[in-house]
Amino acid sequence: MSTAPYPSEHPTPSQLLADKSVLVTGAGMGIGRAIAKACAREGAKVLVADFNEAAGAETVAAIEAAGGEACFAAADVSDEDAVAAMVQQTIDRFGQLDLACNSAALSRGHGPIHRFEKAVFDQTLAMCLANTWLCMKHELEHMLERGSGAIVNISSNASLRGQAHNAAYASAKGGVNILTKSTAAEVAARGVRVNAVSPGTIRTPGVERHFEEHPAQKEMLLQSMPMARLGEPGEIAEAVVFLLSDRASYITGQVLSVDGGGAVR
Ligand SMILES: NC(=O)c1ccc[n+]([C@@H]2O[C@H](COP(=O)([O-])OP(=O)(O)OC[C@H]3O[C@@H](n4cnc5c(N)ncnc54)[C@H](O)[C@@H]3O)[C@@H](O)[C@H]2O)c1
Repeated sequence: MSTAPYPSEHPTPSQLLADKSVLVTGAGMGIGRAIAKACAREGAKVLVADFNEAAGAETVAAIEAAGGEACFAAADVSDEDAVAAMVQQTIDRFGQLDLACNSAALSRGHGPIHRFEKAVFDQTLAMCLANTWLCMKHELEHMLERGSGAIVNISSNASLRGQAHNAAYASAKGGVNILTKSTAAEVAARGVRVNAVSPGTIRTPGVERHFEEHPAQKEMLLQSMPMARLGEPGEIAEAVVFLLSDRASYITGQVLSVDGGGAVR
């Protein structure tokens, strides 16, 4: 089974993800919420997955208030049973799983590499890398059976160069990049595309909190950035929507930085 043909052979849909179902992990807030909302705006039915139930419910309410369709799955995506149940819930609710965006991640802290605790290193890998693999494992089981699908994993520009005092997170996200490419190579001939989006520094609640506590860091960062501003969660979401859509029918195994030029400064 090949991937979807170039859409110019078909009438251009007015919504990029019309009639698709999409699973978005970490969709309770920040970038994941923006992705879930953008997918719904483009006509997709959205399974909002998060371990924060109140936040997930807010995302569902926002989608429904805008006229979209969504439902919530309470899931810790580092737990295999919860991941399997979340994928099954999508299929039960929407009939099938067409698309997925794996955005959930937790970084377990910064620190000098020779003082870093092994337990913290292990946790970061589990919450950023192993969870992404686990989600793809269960999403692909269904997509490969159907012979079609598209997945976008959320990486980070921390993965592109070495980053002092952030080795665990940077390594985990570097792992997400090569996991994405390896999976793409494995499933391309079976109708499924797999890409990653690598955000620069995005104006999410966590990032805003950090910069409120360390305003000098924000100033330094802005001065070093070609566009001299933080990104918006919605700007990540637009790239994800494109890569999930049939407009990206010949794109797989790529890591797309969405960073205001941060990677080329
Ligand atoms: N904000 C940035 O500047 C930035 C930069 C680069 C990459 N990223 C990446 O973008 C993604 C989203 O980041 P964000 O800043 O929006 O984060 P956030 O902390 O604002 O939101 C993350 C969401 O994921 C959920 N989550 C985390 N771990 C989970 C788990 N195991 N199971 C279920 N839900 C879980 C949280 O409850 C939360 O709702 C992450 O993969 C992050 O590494 C963010």
